[in-house]
Amino acid sequence: MSTENTQKVTETLARLADAADADAVEAIRIEALGKQGWISALLKTLGKMTPEERQEQAPAIQAMRAQVADAIAARKAELEAAELEARLATETLDLTLPAPTSPKGSVHPVSQVMDELAEIFADLGFAVATGPEIEDDWYNFSALNMPESHPARAMHDTFYFPDTAPKGGKMLLRTHTSPVQVRTMLDTVKRNPGGAPVRIIAPGRVYRSDSDATHTPMFHQVEGLVIDKDIHLGHLKWTLETFLKAFFETEDIVLRLRPSYFPFTEPSVEVDVGFEIVDGKRVLGGSGDAPGHGWMELLGSGMVNRRVIEMSGLDPDEWQGFAFGVGVDRLAMLKYGMDDLRAFFDGDTRWLNHYGFSHLDQPTLSAGVGAKA
Ligand code: DAH
Repeated sequence: MSTENTQKVTETLARLADAADADAVEAIRIEALGKQGWISALLKTLGKMTPEERQEQAPAIQAMRAQVADAIAARKAELEAAELEARLATETLDLTLPAPTSPKGSVHPVSQVMDELAEIFADLGFAVATGPEIEDDWYNFSALNMPESHPARAMHDTFYFPDTAPKGGKMLLRTHTSPVQVRTMLDTVKRNPGGAPVRIIAPGRVYRSDSDATHTPMFHQVEGLVIDKDIHLGHLKWTLETFLKAFFETEDIVLRLRPSYFPFTEPSVEVDVGFEIVDGKRVLGGSGDAPGHGWMELLGSGMVNRRVIEMSGLDPDEWQGFAFGVGVDRLAMLKYGMDDLRAFFDGDTRWLNHYGFSHLDQPTLSAGVGAKA
């Protein structure tokens, strides 16, 4: 090994020690070990030597290459560590700064109320049933004792499709959740040819061509249906009372049952609930006949008409039942104090942020059914 080369190595190591940054180190590497580098040139000379010469010189040249390569790697690591050290010394992370907020979704009051309804009626042994929103006029009307040309059909402001329904008649957007009654009974008979008890609620969207502060073309109803043997109006009244007490989370609910008319129930009753005017607002509670009180119409119900039971394939001499239908949006407005139905479906996130519910605390019912019973 020539002293010239030894000197070159010493010089390279000294320059490396002085190299201030990664670029300087890279320049030195290229000079020594790059394609045209002086150590690379020395390595190439090995090929032209005799075996003896090579045996003598190769170890020294290889050692030189290794020494310089190691020094380069070491200096690189040193510089990187110093750079990281410097960055850590100057950079600070303030953990007390507020984190950037990401938009949070909320549960729509209608979904919240539907969940509450499912919860309450589950406690009473009701299952949740569903049916199609695009309905056949047989299920929506005829099977519910509203044959074609029945005047009650005209009261529903129905959206019709041009298509012909499988049973004749027209396809339509269901105007109420009552067709789910028929579907559920037919399905029950299919699975139990002699009939079987039914206890369902059917929440869902319904459609009518109507729009003002208290009507939207799409709204929500929940239907209730109980079919069994020896069912009477007392069962209906108890069920509604129990449901409304649990839903409004108060024992102070007074109902008034008024005779009414629905084609699918006989007798039919309109159910009113007593309220009091407090600071100009209606607050549920007390008899509507008390001073400062009034009655508010809440829902329609009745004993399922024999003809509907028959139409659904059950024997009306054996099976009776009651049914009810109530507006879910209306229940939500009453419980949570919202006054314009249209705002429910505007999709304004400010409204939802105000009236919506957290995913974490739903349903909000503080007590289940019969908590005080
Ligand atoms: N389907 C009726 C409506 O939309 C509401 C209703 C009334 C449903 C009485 C019922 C019932 O099940 O028994 O106006």
